[in-house]
Amino acid sequence: MKIAIISDIHSNLEALQTALKIIEKSGVEKIYSCGDIVGYGPDPESCALEIIKKGINSVKGNHDAGVSGDSIIFNFNSYAREAILYTKRVISYGVEQFLKSLPYNIIEEQFTIFHGSLIPKEPFEYILTEDLVMENFSYLTTPIGFYGHTHVPCLCELDKNNNLKIIDFKQKKKVFLERSSKYLINVGSVGQPRDGDPKGSFLIFDDNEYSVTLNRFNYDIETVYKKIIEKKLPTFLGERLFSGF
Ligand SMILES: [Fe+2]
Repeated sequence: MKIAIISDIHSNLEALQTALKIIEKSGVEKIYSCGDIVGYGPDPESCALEIIKKGINSVKGNHDAGVSGDSIIFNFNSYAREAILYTKRVISYGVEQFLKSLPYNIIEEQFTIFHGSLIPKEPFEYILTEDLVMENFSYLTTPIGFYGHTHVPCLCELDKNNNLKIIDFKQKKKVFLERSSKYLINVGSVGQPRDGDPKGSFLIFDDNEYSVTLNRFNYDIETVYKKIIEKKLPTFLGERLFSGF
C-alpha cells in the first residue's frame, strides 16, 4: 500500500491542491499530515476544509495550536504572530474546533506521525542536533517516525548496531529502507519549504517495497504571493516562497 505524508501546508492552498493532485495520480490509498495546516499563508479555512473533506489524518502543529488557543502566541516570531492573528480572524468556529481537536501523535503499526518532536513535554522542539535525534529515537515505538516542523526534508537511520546515519534526502529522491533499522524522516513542507528549493515537498511511503520517495513539485507561487499582499500579511511571507528559505 502507498501512503502519502504531507506536512506544514501553512494555509498555502495552491501548493496543497497541487500536491493532492499528484498524490491522487500516484495510487496512494491513505494520506497523513504532520501538522501546521494553518499559519503564515492566506487560505487557512480552505486548507483545513480540504484536509477534512479528503479525510486526511493530521496531528497538531504549533501554528494549529497557536490559533486554537493551545499555545501562547508570544512564543512565535513577529511574522508568525501576525499570521496567527489574521488566521484567528478569518477561520470559522468549526475549523478552530477541528484544529483544537487534533492529536499530538498518531501511532500506526509501522509508523508514528508527529509534528516536531516525540519528547513528551516538548512536542514542538526542533530536531536539529544528533543528540535530539537520538533522544527522539528513544521515544519512537514504531519502526518509522514521520515529522515536519523544520520545513527541511531529512532522513535519519538508526541501524541494528545503534549506528546513526543522516542521509542527504534532498539529493536522494527514493530510499529503500532496511527492516532491521529505525527511521526518523522529515517529509519537508508542502507550503513553505526552507531548504533553498522553492518547490513544495511531500513523501510517499510504499510499505510493500519498503521505500520512501521524496516528491518535489512546482506550484503557482505568484498567486499565493498576490493573496498574501491582498490580505495584508507581511510581504516577507510571500517573498520567502520564491527563494525557498
Ligand atoms: Fe511549520
